[in-house]
Amino acid sequence: MKQSIVRSTGRFLPDRVVTNDDLAAWMDTTDEWIQQRTGIRERRWVSGEGELGVSDLGLDASKIALERAGWTPEDIDMIIFATLSPDIFFPGPGCLLQHKLGLSSTPAVDIRQQCTGFLYGLMTADAYIKSGYANRILFVGAEIHSTGLDISTKGRDVTVIFGDGAGALCIEGDQTAGNKGVLACSLHAQGKYADALMTEAPASRLNPRISANMVEEGRHYPTMDGRNVFKLAITRLPQVSKVVLDQAGMSMDDIDLVIPHQANLRINQAFGQSMGIPEDKMFHNIQRYGNTTAGSIPIAIDEAIEMGLIREGSTVLFAGLGAGLTWGAMIYRF
Ligand code: UT7
Repeated sequence: MKQSIVRSTGRFLPDRVVTNDDLAAWMDTTDEWIQQRTGIRERRWVSGEGELGVSDLGLDASKIALERAGWTPEDIDMIIFATLSPDIFFPGPGCLLQHKLGLSSTPAVDIRQQCTGFLYGLMTADAYIKSGYANRILFVGAEIHSTGLDISTKGRDVTVIFGDGAGALCIEGDQTAGNKGVLACSLHAQGKYADALMTEAPASRLNPRISANMVEEGRHYPTMDGRNVFKLAITRLPQVSKVVLDQAGMSMDDIDLVIPHQANLRINQAFGQSMGIPEDKMFHNIQRYGNTTAGSIPIAIDEAIEMGLIREGSTVLFAGLGAGLTWGAMIYRF
């Protein structure tokens, strides 16, 4: 059977570094509070000048991945774009990126699974590849959170955790790959918790979808029941990781690296402790980038490859939980 092989990766982070002290100048927070509760020291935010959308960040990451794979845009059979922060309400950034790559009719799919956008996206790519419909897929996970955050004290619990960034992967079907690619995966959603982390407006269930009053009330900003999401994460990430280890017939000893979604360093430390994962097998970069949601695992993969932590044959456990509620885990061999 064909396996979905990551041929190359790329990432793009905006140049502008926003430190915890920068945030403390706009809202009632401190570097100490943010580092203690989240591990985050700084994040990247777009400059906010001009019109720069998430498809532009995705384009920069894609150009690097395409060059490393030795592909031209015309080699791509399909684009899969995961984000919760589309350039515009519709159409989605997959179509916008397709045009920016100079393509005329290559299909583009958007994934709206937030923090698990990478897990759902890679499974979608894998299904298209195994069905024979597409063989070369460009996957992008990217976010621009910064233009949609409440930088007053009212929004401090959410605003301090989010950053902007993009990661891209060139994924190709390979008949001769053997025991590589997706070895196990478990995906979940529970809409019951949709309002635990959401941005309400603009909303088709409201008429009008957005109004001056709603903006006044801040209903266009994300809201989060942080404690609840935290509790759900530290129980479900280990549960779902054990499921994929069982599926693959593996133990943690068979895993070379764990790349969890970068939502909060404390969540990932608790996850690591409850699974008995040695510190040197756990990948963290949230300290520098904050939570880039659909961008977080793709950016981390690109960095881990650059650092020599992922090589040909490395077996990696990915896990994530976030808005939806959605969560999942995957074992992937490079
Ligand atoms: O990737 C998407 C999924 N999201 C997550 O995984 C996020 C999960 N949740 C979290 O990471 C944490 O809940 C937060 C980092 C968001 C918050 O940390 P916490 O330890 O759960 O704090 P808390 O919400 O329980 O708030 C504790 C106190 C409150 O003050 P009082 O009521 O005790 O006086 C908050 O008002 O901290 C206050 N607070 C802050 N203080 C300074 C909340 N945000 C801030 C802030 N700076 N930025």
